Amino acid sequence: MGPGPINADPRVLRAMSAQLVGQFDPAMTGYMNETMALYRGVFRTANAATMLVDGTSRAGIEAALVSLIEPGDRVLVPIFGRFGHLLREIATRCGADVHVREVPWGTVFTAAALEQAVAETRPALVAVVHGDTSTTLAQPLDELGAICARHGALLYADVTGTLGGNDVDVDGWGLDAATAGLQKCLGGPSGSAPITLSTRAVAVLDARRSIEAGLRDEGDRIAASPIRSNYLDLAMILDYWGERRLNHHTEAGSMLYAARECARILLEEGLDAAVERHRLHGAAMAAGLRGLGLTLFGDQSARMTNVVGVEIPAGIDGDGARAAMLTDFGIEIGTSFGPLHGRIWRIGTMGYNARRDAVLTTLAALEQVLRRGGHAVTAGGGVGAALEAYAA
Ligand SMILES: Cc1ncc(COP(=O)(O)O)c(C=O)c1O
Repeated sequence: MGPGPINADPRVLRAMSAQLVGQFDPAMTGYMNETMALYRGVFRTANAATMLVDGTSRAGIEAALVSLIEPGDRVLVPIFGRFGHLLREIATRCGADVHVREVPWGTVFTAAALEQAVAETRPALVAVVHGDTSTTLAQPLDELGAICARHGALLYADVTGTLGGNDVDVDGWGLDAATAGLQKCLGGPSGSAPITLSTRAVAVLDARRSIEAGLRDEGDRIAASPIRSNYLDLAMILDYWGERRLNHHTEAGSMLYAARECARILLEEGLDAAVERHRLHGAAMAAGLRGLGLTLFGDQSARMTNVVGVEIPAGIDGDGARAAMLTDFGIEIGTSFGPLHGRIWRIGTMGYNARRDAVLTTLAALEQVLRRGGHAVTAGGGVGAALEAYAA
């Protein structure tokens, strides 16, 4: 019940135990095409360039940034938590001229502030986190695509923390690139990064495409400014997933089975139903924590559906309490990073764990741990408030 990874759906674990086949086996190319189609549904996009990057979510982020940023490009990064800092760090390593705007952790940007920042910096790319799991807040993105389009910038969003359990509308919001992972609302293991790219983003990649010697045909040109990573070169990865099926890495078959199964489960449930399930159980958890007399962290109007930050009460040892939750009840809850370490816990209700029994058991266990730590709590206050939220 932390901020991810969470327990994988048993169907995903079963899918991962299927026998391996080579990446050019017709069964595998069929799975690849099917996975592309499934993730178009998950991302709510018509983007042909929708596929998997083999690696954790960070690989997806780095692939997007290293492939879209040419050294010297101006990049704007609005930062409202730890993962915004990660985007800044990666963009800097890509050689970008990085400009940042920051708001205090626990808050998000207004659309007007974002528009002002874009107008002031005139970036080639805006890179932003949707749900920054470190603060448990989600930056509304519904207006940012139009803002970027007005100012001629591409828009990249890290939707790792939100995809599948919060509204994410790639085409509706005008995102040019979005990347995720499986280990949050998608209910899988980390190690595969779904990605989608608009035609505008693909045009940038086309201009930087450099096909490796040994694979190159006579007509293939060599880019003047090739992408600075080989493994994370999205032009090459597109050629691997696309019709040319040019050899790149050996597809991580078991992870592809996992990613495919995650998307199948999600789309069988229905995206809207899955978002509503996350909203329901996230709201019940938040109500239960308040029912225990605890204070929620951050602007609750911008809270992610799938993870809630809660202030560690005075006198309670945050890490000791987390250890007690784990050893006595087998329940993992999260701490946070940097300025929030030791100040808040992060409690997730996502993917396979966005369930009523998981919410109620966690609240019951936390009550006992708080009581043992000497913190006065209303008996049954957490479970009772959550049950009331469910009944509402
Ligand atoms: C919003 C966000 N972005 C990126 C990451 C990095 O993901 P990974 O550890 O899978 O590389 C995380 C992980 O928690 C995250 O929450």
